[in-house]
Amino acid sequence: MALATINNEKPLSAHVVVLGNEKGGSGKSTTALHIAVALLKAGQRVATIDLDARQKSFTHYIENRRAWGERARVKLELPTHYCVTRGESVSLDANEAKEFASFSAAISAVEHTHDVVVIDSPGNDTYLMRLAHSMADTLVTPLNDSFVDFDVLGQLDHATFAVTGESHYAEMVREARRQRRLVDGCLTDWVVVRNRLSMLNSRNKKLVGDGLTELSKRMSFRNVDGFAERMVYREFFPRGLTALDDLDETVLGTKPSLSHITAREEVVTLLNALNLPLSENGKRRAAARAEWYSVMNQPLQVHDVIA
Ligand SMILES: Nc1ncnc2c1ncn2[C@@H]1O[C@H](COP(=O)(O)OP(=O)(O)O)[C@@H](O)[C@H]1O
Ligand SMILES: [Mg+2]
Repeated sequence: MALATINNEKPLSAHVVVLGNEKGGSGKSTTALHIAVALLKAGQRVATIDLDARQKSFTHYIENRRAWGERARVKLELPTHYCVTRGESVSLDANEAKEFASFSAAISAVEHTHDVVVIDSPGNDTYLMRLAHSMADTLVTPLNDSFVDFDVLGQLDHATFAVTGESHYAEMVREARRQRRLVDGCLTDWVVVRNRLSMLNSRNKKLVGDGLTELSKRMSFRNVDGFAERMVYREFFPRGLTALDDLDETVLGTKPSLSHITAREEVVTLLNALNLPLSENGKRRAAARAEWYSVMNQPLQVHDVIA
């Protein structure tokens, strides 16, 4: 697998999920945590890596989760997390070397001991971001439902809205997939996930959808609906929560609402659509834990999350 590029011989055993889109604010970090928590709840051994060493949103999200779990005295599953060290010298080469070493060390530490590695990438074109894209078994690209965001993937005809070409991010992914194919012959499963969908049907929603369907055939990606625009996704961050955590007041720190339930349903639908491989051992761990919890008469949503 692509990390063969990093440590030459050993094949990477963990499934690598990369969250990528050159546009900031598209929902990468939010989706990354939801995927990681869903997999943890399914008994998988999950490692997470934050490549956005400047903003560190993914890292802060996970730190918030740890802190809230302690404060509220509730058990919130946590991944093994790494944040790459940022190179801050004046030399670009020295910075890249430092960041590469940090990323490589994180991968080496988890690749044979975890089932899945979820990597969140920054919203700009960096060396590590490209490297991560060429390692992805599954590449998840959340995309805000707007033409401004569509623009990083494809170009449209001004009059007809027909797709006329591919844009810079799509070209970068094409090259990353080509490199990946050269290494082990595998094709990255690229899934473009429409995020912050309006709950109303609009002309914009339809046109963006049509453009994505057309582009998906050209670029071989899968095009799935993700999360609707909901306030609960924003409210989750300070406590490190996800729509998959127990919907009770102790865990949420607030009364559960219908929006929490609907959000959970759409997260489960997304996780099913991603079709990530689950290790059998992990499934058994989740089932055993669910049984233990039911014996202890405590609420838990475990393997039904992505079964
Ligand atoms: N479905 C959604 N509904 C409402 N707000 C969302 C949704 N998804 C993400 N957000 C919010 O949008 C902002 C950007 O999301 P984030 O996951 O940090 O994006 P990225 O990592 O791509 O920069 C955050 O404030 C986040 O809470
Ligand atoms: Mg982010």
